[in-house]
Amino acid sequence: MQIQNILIIGSGAMGAQIGMVCALAGYRTTLQDVSGEALEQALKQLEARMSRDVEKGRRTRAEADDALGRLSFTTLLPDAAAWADLVIEAATEKLHIKQEVFRTLDAHAPAHAILTTNSSTYGSSKVAEVTGRAEKVCNLHFFNPALVMACVEVVRHEQTSDETVQTVMDLARSLGKEPVLLNREIPGFVANRLMGAIRDEALRLYADGIASYEDIDTAARTALGHPMGPFELMDLVGLDVSYLIRQATYEETGDENELPHPELARLYRAGNYGKKTGEGWYRYTADGAKTPKTLKTAAR
Ligand code: CAA
Repeated sequence: MQIQNILIIGSGAMGAQIGMVCALAGYRTTLQDVSGEALEQALKQLEARMSRDVEKGRRTRAEADDALGRLSFTTLLPDAAAWADLVIEAATEKLHIKQEVFRTLDAHAPAHAILTTNSSTYGSSKVAEVTGRAEKVCNLHFFNPALVMACVEVVRHEQTSDETVQTVMDLARSLGKEPVLLNREIPGFVANRLMGAIRDEALRLYADGIASYEDIDTAARTALGHPMGPFELMDLVGLDVSYLIRQATYEETGDENELPHPELARLYRAGNYGKKTGEGWYRYTADGAKTPKTLKTAAR
């Protein structure tokens, strides 16, 4: 199947950068969000990101402008769905919202359109079941920051057709990504399960007062060669995202071990979501630079 027009639902950190990845690869791309303000914010951030790339010689001004020219923005989901060959839903990690989106997509997207979700919490069978085209639904999961990270996970559910899997794997390669195929659904998929194991241990070490979160991050970077430590990574991904994923996984599995760690819940309840709110485990200046907080060990 020939894909020309891609629709991204949700213009948060993930949706916006996924949209830019698609536009850079030559696809006509629409970013849809219920909030016009969020769309304006997304455009501003993407323009700044492209200008930075031009400054650094990573791409020419003409390439950046052409890609930005292929991006359009709308709050109207049914209209945007009507011309999409492929949809990537990156709305908030709440199942009822995703199901509502997929119902609308199924009603308005052309019959040939493939509907994917960027969720790593919900296997796509959960959204496929509200559509009449389960064979054209799968997960297409990107990593933050989507403009940089090469991996995407393609996850099929029982009814996803081979043709859909092939088209989505080919699409991922055409975006310059390295797709990893999961043959069946499992909460967290592959990469987040690996990351989750490290994060859980890091939270345990911190909460037990064994080491400060700064030192645990340092160990991950300097002993294991990770580009950033687990606490820095939570701040980048968003503590709200990390919290909601764990909460949803708990609701999916009923396993109390999956509940968000109390230290994570404490920051979530305080509204300290990480880089995007200026404070999480660390504090951030307006230009995104990291400054440690004075609290070095867990409150005991
Ligand atoms: N958006 C886009 N590009 C970014 C970026 C961002 N938020 N942050 C950094 N970059 C790019 C820029 O090109 C930057 O260079 P410039 O500042 O000169 O423009 C370049 O990366 C290098 O950045 P830094 O010098 O600031 O830092 P770095 O070398 O450590 O790289 C990083 C930053 C790529 C984010 C790297 O630290 C990294 O790979 N971290 C791990 C990220 C990770 O594990 N992501 C997975 C998260 S899990 C997830 O997303 C799944 C889920 O379901 C929740």
